[in-house]
Amino acid sequence: MIEFEKVWKRYAKRGDEWALEDVSFRIVPREMVFLLGSSGAGKTTLLKLITLEEQPTTGRVVAADFASDEISRRDVPFLRRHCGMVFQDFRLIKDLTIAENLAYCLRMTGTLERGVISRAVARVLQSVGIYGKRDRFPRELSGGEQQRAAIGRALIHEPPIILADEPTGNLDGATGAEIMELLQRLRLAGAALLIASHQEELAQRYGTRTLRLRDGRIVEDRVLRRIGAEIA
Ligand SMILES: Nc1ncnc2c1ncn2[C@@H]1O[C@H](COP(=O)(O)OP(=O)(O)OP(=O)(O)O)[C@@H](O)[C@H]1O
Ligand SMILES: [Mg+2]
Repeated sequence: MIEFEKVWKRYAKRGDEWALEDVSFRIVPREMVFLLGSSGAGKTTLLKLITLEEQPTTGRVVAADFASDEISRRDVPFLRRHCGMVFQDFRLIKDLTIAENLAYCLRMTGTLERGVISRAVARVLQSVGIYGKRDRFPRELSGGEQQRAAIGRALIHEPPIILADEPTGNLDGATGAEIMELLQRLRLAGAALLIASHQEELAQRYGTRTLRLRDGRIVEDRVLRRIGAEIA
């Protein structure tokens, strides 16, 4: 679950430029919400407030039972384990193989036992369809395969929330559609997804709902399909 309650955000301490103004909404499991809006509208800012990469100036953000105005600094890494992140530029570590990229992520969060790590990595790589490429380096994969790997990394902690910032922005139409099908499966498995995108047609095809930002304000909140209803 993700909830924004009257959130305002500005980056400068003083000044009157708001990146987000009075934003409120709630996203529940099995929703795939597309966050639409032109460049500078506030999409990335909104995603960063969920993982507390940025703090709201006023108002409150709740994600997976962690509230921005109550969470202790110590608990921020736990919050982030509940939020799988996917980016336009994949952000894999280039000197590590695909399997090592995922294993690294588990080790960073305290899982140390080799058998546990390798089983988790194998399971996730199978689920995103690139287990056969596990020993390659990122540069040896196509863009679509790299994005699958990045989604695998986002899934390694089985997060209930998945946040994606232009996940298909660097991919051609067909590859982008494959990535959306993969995200769609996560939705049906019970995740809540919030995807920032410029691509209206993807939102219409895959989204259950659209939130449209203009100059930091939500100007439209539209349900496209009832959650639970399968897409034909
Ligand atoms: N770290 C920062 N410091 C100051 N201002 C920032 C910072 N990050 C973003 N902004 C400003 O906040 C506003 C919203 O930016 P944001 O990156 O959220 O937009 P966006 O909708 O993600 O745009 P795009 O589609 O280009 O990625 C913009 O006016 C931007 O200049
Ligand atoms: Mg952005």
